Amino acid sequence: MQDIFQPEVRLWQHIEALIRSEMETFAYREIRTPVLEKTELFVRGVGGGTDIVKKEMYTFSDKGDRSVTMRPEGTASVVRAVNEHGLLNAGEPVSKYYYIGPMFRYERPQKGRLRQFHQFGVECFGSDSPFVDAEVIQILYNILTKLKLSDISVKLNSIGCPECRPVFRQNAEKYFGAVKDKLCVECNERINTNPLRIYDCKTPSCKENITGAPVILDHLCEGCSQHFESVKRALAQIGVPFVIDARLVRGLDYYTRTAFEVTSKHLGAQDALGGGGRYDDLVSELGGQKTPAIGFGMGIERVVIAVKTQNIDLGLGSGLRAYVVPLSRNEAEYAFKLLDILRKADISAQMAVSEKKTGVHFKDAEKAGADFAVIIGEDEIKNGTLTVKDLRKRSQQSVSEAELAAYIKNN
Ligand code: HAM
Repeated sequence: MQDIFQPEVRLWQHIEALIRSEMETFAYREIRTPVLEKTELFVRGVGGGTDIVKKEMYTFSDKGDRSVTMRPEGTASVVRAVNEHGLLNAGEPVSKYYYIGPMFRYERPQKGRLRQFHQFGVECFGSDSPFVDAEVIQILYNILTKLKLSDISVKLNSIGCPECRPVFRQNAEKYFGAVKDKLCVECNERINTNPLRIYDCKTPSCKENITGAPVILDHLCEGCSQHFESVKRALAQIGVPFVIDARLVRGLDYYTRTAFEVTSKHLGAQDALGGGGRYDDLVSELGGQKTPAIGFGMGIERVVIAVKTQNIDLGLGSGLRAYVVPLSRNEAEYAFKLLDILRKADISAQMAVSEKKTGVHFKDAEKAGADFAVIIGEDEIKNGTLTVKDLRKRSQQSVSEAELAAYIKNN
């Protein structure tokens, strides 16, 4: 779990502002759900056989002896909320929600993998139209490209539906049954319970044996196959590049049909910036009307790492425009008045409050990340002009009090 502070927090705020603006464009509305939910929600929603539920949840009994869990992801909570508050419109208009917030997973920490991390997620309910799939994937792609991230790859797969899975399962059981001695203990259990999970196993010997295994993409029923083709066409139409990855299965049990992930070459082992897919059965499994749905989650820490590793200049700066420096105690009151004038003009400003040598004040101004130092000495007060030092250009200018705010705004 980590603290996030200046200067990195500026990047976080920039990412969050970009998300909110993009969400306005795509007509998604924010939803804020609690961090704590009944444990049962995630067991039923995410799936009892997943690593998340089996190994990674922060679960405890509250003082009322109820088992509660700090959310490991956002989808199950949003589904609970839309069911609970009757937010689904029986189809159209589709209900589109997004969230930004902390999630908790007791995983082994490493680069890009934390126990408290933050997700931006979207969930779209009410339509199985392939255009919705394309829209959701486009949102993630747009945000990452607007952050100037290069070397990203959109990986796309379809993992079918309850209609196509039985034949796939039979074939997978046959294949994995023949190599079961080479699979880990957990994957041996998965052969008959949930063979899709084997594709996600990180044990080297399992990974080796997955290479030749049958994939669900080759077993899609007519409906899923047509849907997948339409998603690909829609993505091509809006210029979102993608690659097919027939072994992409995702780590949560609720998915049907479209599954996708966006990876970065700059992240190392934890290379998924975000991922998601369709979950057409989850709303009804959690007690609602049958409602098709799709969404994704994006890991903000991983996006931050990718932006920093690629040295991307988003022109963020510190945000501080003016550092007001009274040269002695005599100018402090006037400086305080000036500070107020700047702030009333919506200019971010700060004032030096202790007496120091002028050179040290300049160093402080630079340390604070200010664009300008506004110097007030005896002469400045006498002449009614201020010395404004541009700390970026290393130049200096005399400016009257009346013109100061406009000068700073325009430079
Ligand atoms: P997920 O793939 O488990 O999906 O997580 C989505 C993203 O969250 C990952 O791609 C990654 O960027 C980030 N993430 C996951 N675990 C960690 C961690 N321990 N540390 C840092 N970042 C992490 C979901 O959570 C689904 N709810 C996504 C979804 C929404 N599917 C449909 N709707």
